[in-house]
Amino acid sequence: MPSVAASVAQVPRSRIRELAEIAMSIDGVLRLYFGESNLPTPDYIKQAAIRAMNEGFTFYTENAGLPSTRRAIAAHYRKLHGVEIDPATEIIVTASGVQALNLGIRCALDPGDEAIALTPAWPNGSANAMLSNAAVHEIPHPLCGNRYRVDFDALERAVTSRTRLLIYTSPSNPLGWVATDEEQQGLLEFVRRHDLWLLADEVYDRLYYSGSRLGEPVPSILRKATRADSVMVVHSFSKSYCMTGWRLGFLIARRDLAAKATQTNEFVVSHAPSFTQKAGETALAEGEGELLRMLERLKENRELCLEALGGIAGVTVPKPDGAFYVFPRIDGLTDSFAFCRRLLEETRVGLAPGVAFGTGGEGSVRICYAAERSILEPALERVARFLRAGG
Ligand SMILES: Cc1ncc(COP(=O)(O)O)c(C=O)c1O
Repeated sequence: MPSVAASVAQVPRSRIRELAEIAMSIDGVLRLYFGESNLPTPDYIKQAAIRAMNEGFTFYTENAGLPSTRRAIAAHYRKLHGVEIDPATEIIVTASGVQALNLGIRCALDPGDEAIALTPAWPNGSANAMLSNAAVHEIPHPLCGNRYRVDFDALERAVTSRTRLLIYTSPSNPLGWVATDEEQQGLLEFVRRHDLWLLADEVYDRLYYSGSRLGEPVPSILRKATRADSVMVVHSFSKSYCMTGWRLGFLIARRDLAAKATQTNEFVVSHAPSFTQKAGETALAEGEGELLRMLERLKENRELCLEALGGIAGVTVPKPDGAFYVFPRIDGLTDSFAFCRRLLEETRVGLAPGVAFGTGGEGSVRICYAAERSILEPALERVARFLRAGG
């Protein structure tokens, strides 16, 4: 009997999913383990999808996505970042951010290559590199005072003759870390010096609390990169527009990689769903008001988390600048999965275990604060009580 391919057998299980599956079998759980809120997609986006279906957007589209959707993305980037991206050659609309990760990584790595990932990070970047039969070196962000940093010395030490790709996420899931201008420049110079691809996961770019005003995006790496740089950016509609279930994202990349990713897409999903792409156009065009309201709510929720967990002995909660997570570090914690499981069974609160986020993640738990107050407040109370009682 043939066995499952060894390359797939070695792909690890997502430990966030593992915890979630236990939680889903229990009634009445306050769910803060996934990166989404309990709020539905705004109505104007749902209506746009219905309109698109009625207008006939139910057929196959181009592998790179509808030209109108790519033009809308390019216009959005011009407005937000002052960057010109060619919709015909540098954008691929994908069926989710994770599919953009998959395509980008697939096109950058050969079997036996090596990738470097800055961690703790959402595990799907490293897992996709492993799916490409590459080895991954995870380099943790050191915590200096109250801020995470990039360990450039460790990056230099991790490079070998097989290294082809560096993956980083800013704003970070789970840390909320946002790369500074100097850190972005340093990462770009690092990949230029070592001839690597740079994959910047910017899916949380709009969820930023330290700009000059709420709504200002985290500056994209594309503001610094030239069109000839080996840089790609992964994006998603999931977080900014509450569209997690729709599966819509995009990849921006240098044109040679973008051309191959477009062809490759044919054999993966062919393209993102047609009416979903049209709904995404509406989200980009009309979404600012709703986004701002969400950001105000998220910023208050972030404060609530910091207050609820801040004073607990043995718990360190670095203040995140972006995304919608806090990642408290708990002194003496060596098995965050067991901790989350106990918390779930004893208090009916579901968090994501830090171990799920790779090197540097163990010893912490991730709390997603995107949920409504009616869920977040009691959940935080229970977590704080559990921690005070010694976990
Ligand atoms: C860092 C990061 N990148 C990409 C994604 C992918 O989002 P989606 O596949 O829902 O578009 C997520 C989702 O949690 C994420 O946290």
